[in-house]
Amino acid sequence: MSETRKEIPNERPGESQNEEPNKEGIEKLNKELFDFISGSPSCFHVIENMKQMLSAQGYTPLLESEPWKLRAGGKYYVTRNGSSLIAFRIPAHNEARSFQIMASHSDSPCFKIKENPEIEAENHYVKLNVEKYGGMLMAPWFDRPLSVAGRVLVRDGERIVTRLVNIDRDLLLIPNLAIHMNREVNDGVKYNAQKDMLPLYGDETAKGGFMAQIAEAAGVSPEAILGHDLFLYSRTPGSVWGASREFLSIGRLDDLQCAFASLKGFLEARESAVIPVHCVFDNEEVGSETRQGAASTFLYDTLTNICETLGKPMTEYRRMLAASLMLSADNAHGVHPNYPEKACPTNRPYLNGGIVIKYSANQKYTTDGVAGALFKEICRRAGVPFQVYLNRSDVPGGSTLGNISGTQVAVNTVDIGLAQLAMHSPYETAGTRDTEYLVRAAREFFGTEIQADGDGVYQVK
Ligand code: CO
Repeated sequence: MSETRKEIPNERPGESQNEEPNKEGIEKLNKELFDFISGSPSCFHVIENMKQMLSAQGYTPLLESEPWKLRAGGKYYVTRNGSSLIAFRIPAHNEARSFQIMASHSDSPCFKIKENPEIEAENHYVKLNVEKYGGMLMAPWFDRPLSVAGRVLVRDGERIVTRLVNIDRDLLLIPNLAIHMNREVNDGVKYNAQKDMLPLYGDETAKGGFMAQIAEAAGVSPEAILGHDLFLYSRTPGSVWGASREFLSIGRLDDLQCAFASLKGFLEARESAVIPVHCVFDNEEVGSETRQGAASTFLYDTLTNICETLGKPMTEYRRMLAASLMLSADNAHGVHPNYPEKACPTNRPYLNGGIVIKYSANQKYTTDGVAGALFKEICRRAGVPFQVYLNRSDVPGGSTLGNISGTQVAVNTVDIGLAQLAMHSPYETAGTRDTEYLVRAAREFFGTEIQADGDGVYQVK
């Protein structure tokens, strides 16, 4: 530690903040989560809603295309493509010595509306042409009310501007084929995205109406629309259920449960000598290799912009990274009651069992002994239980943000998530107590300073 470091007024709040809230507190938080998810039907709406929550708390928007002015005690956010967001604070009373970064993702597997989407069938139906975005469970998309949300690019005088759209009513449905016409259906079906998954939009009178309806929702004429990114979403509302109301179900818990908890924890954290960074990436479900994905330079560009604007040279940026910690937060598979054999024999996360720390020897999950130890210490301080996920040794499993982001910004990283069932269904299930555990751990995490005293030697402050 250098002599010149200022003393940190440690604004650690009383222990009361880390106490288990009562039932009403948990219900209120999950209601907020449901409102957030229902109000965020596309990745663009996720980011728009986060911007509004941040603005309401006095955060200043920054643009990547403009020079930045940052000051001690300042609170900021920047977006890229309207679908990824990074929010951060500069400590008011401390010299910033590292970053505490929590990353999650704004996108979810769904169906994207293709260009020229209308298909007429039998002179009696209009259906829409869609393609898969990410890897979803297809069967549960049948026979449930759906609608469309996303963005359109419209001509507005000399400019081309983005408008978010959401047709906020039951609009579409993908009807199943009756069992009488496929008697083998319950022995397993292979779904063809081009044939089986096209949503029904209307009868013959709907012809030519779809983009006009989108234009109307955007408040523009159909000719003004120059581009669009529109996605199907499930209209099924959230539900809290189970013998003691211990489960909750809604679409896109992966990864909006983590994104929401990250933002809540970020907003509530105490100040320390770190720059807390709340980071939400788009395109995790399609491999992250986009301009705004975890494989992009968005995080690197933002962190180096912060340092340079604060007058910190790149050598200091690299020193800060050596003491930084990242949480890559993306939901995890809980043990399934009907398929217990699918889980690792000795690491078996359950719903409401606390935060899941994910390990994988091939580093698809980045957690290693060091990062895991640092995060477990943070959980202990927050009074939050944790459990462990590993894939069965004979299945490859999925991947997530941490190892991908690490190729751009190399910091100690822990892959975590909340246990859930039916991942990538349009209606997923998780535990009601777990949202609060993650908010509390995130709050502790964002206020914690890690000090690197050597390679593999750390103080958690
Ligand atoms: Co995910």
